[in-house]
Amino acid sequence: MRYDAELIRKQFPSMARVINGFPAAYLDCPGGTQVPQRVADKVLDFLIWHNANIHGAFATSVESDAMLVDARKAFADLFGCSSEEVSFGANATTINFNLAHAIARDLKPGDEILITDIDHEGNRGPWEILEERGIIIRNVKVDLENCVIDMADFAGKLNERTRVAAFNYASNGVGTISDVKKMVAMAHEVGALTMVDAVNYVLHGPVDVKDIDTDFLMCSSYKLFGPHIGILYAKKDKMEALRTIKVKEQENWASLKFETGTLNHEGIAGAAEAVEFIASIGETCAEDFTNKLVGLTGRRRNVVAGMLALEAYEQPLTVYLIDELEKIPGVKVYGPPKGHPRTSTISFTLQNRSPREVAEYLASKGLFVWDGDFFASKLIFVLGLRESGGLVRIGLAPYNTKEEIERALAAIQEFAKVI
Ligand SMILES: Cc1ncc(COP(=O)(O)O)c(C=O)c1O
Repeated sequence: MRYDAELIRKQFPSMARVINGFPAAYLDCPGGTQVPQRVADKVLDFLIWHNANIHGAFATSVESDAMLVDARKAFADLFGCSSEEVSFGANATTINFNLAHAIARDLKPGDEILITDIDHEGNRGPWEILEERGIIIRNVKVDLENCVIDMADFAGKLNERTRVAAFNYASNGVGTISDVKKMVAMAHEVGALTMVDAVNYVLHGPVDVKDIDTDFLMCSSYKLFGPHIGILYAKKDKMEALRTIKVKEQENWASLKFETGTLNHEGIAGAAEAVEFIASIGETCAEDFTNKLVGLTGRRRNVVAGMLALEAYEQPLTVYLIDELEKIPGVKVYGPPKGHPRTSTISFTLQNRSPREVAEYLASKGLFVWDGDFFASKLIFVLGLRESGGLVRIGLAPYNTKEEIERALAAIQEFAKVI
């Protein structure tokens, strides 16, 4: 495999941080990734040299317009769509609130929306709030044994009154990847719109919105080596039909009709550079994946190759980490069964220790992991883990190494013995 994690790490200045004498190990990817130097440089370059509002006659404004055009193209290559189908926003949650409210303008009491118990609150709350307009919210259950969506329940809750089905591509709580292509097709069969939350998926495998055929998909740049902005994919005809929440004077065509106020230009410049970074990985690794790149050209080909390289690097580390965790007495790993599609988000509990205690112990050794419910609050509740502090979550990113995993495993083992 041509992917070289050591070379990649060199591009991330934060890898040099030392905590209590230990090199910092960023095992917190599902909460947000580290940023390569070139992304930080791009943000700085924009702020220093090109910073302006759009549609002006002068150089920096013309450059800001051009930057936005280019950034839309970059995300179109990430999603496999046209740049008119890409909108920018503050973050995925805010994008989803705006989308839900726009869709709701054309709904009536008694219409139904499907959300799932495995979803992050960012893909539940924006829909749940519509209950106050008389919309009925249906929660699809999770098969608790396997931490996967209960597909029979999903099928059973879809009906001719379902207007929207919202579900994630991958769970930020336990890493489960859902069969979103199938779920989109099932929702379309009853005439519902679909929102796929790809926030936890997008760094872990290639996205092809045309293949999965979803109407909407959202992600966040800060989970993808970039700054804190959110990005929406919307099918052009669906965005055109939408009565978006906006000021009267704002452009009324896709994709600008979704973007209220002045955007975070420097963030968008950095986010597009993060896509370029992934494409640069793909450029060096494409030969490892030629059979999966048939028909793709240019940056889209490189982005897909980059994502395939990241996925191929992370997957064996994920399997190794789960296998080794399961050998530690008192550890219980939560997530899909072996062989089921999953991301490198791995969650567990340690007997007689709260997740916070585990996370604090690991933090003292320079190992950054999350604890709690990570806003996958409903999942943690139905798993019966709310009172005990949720889960410990290790999330691997493509800059993590086997050595860091060994350090985490040794520390967990050590802590387990202290009891
Ligand atoms: C699966 C998932 N969906 C949605 C969100 C919310 O994203 P944002 O912070 O951009 O609103 C997150 C954030 O952790 C997430 O992991």
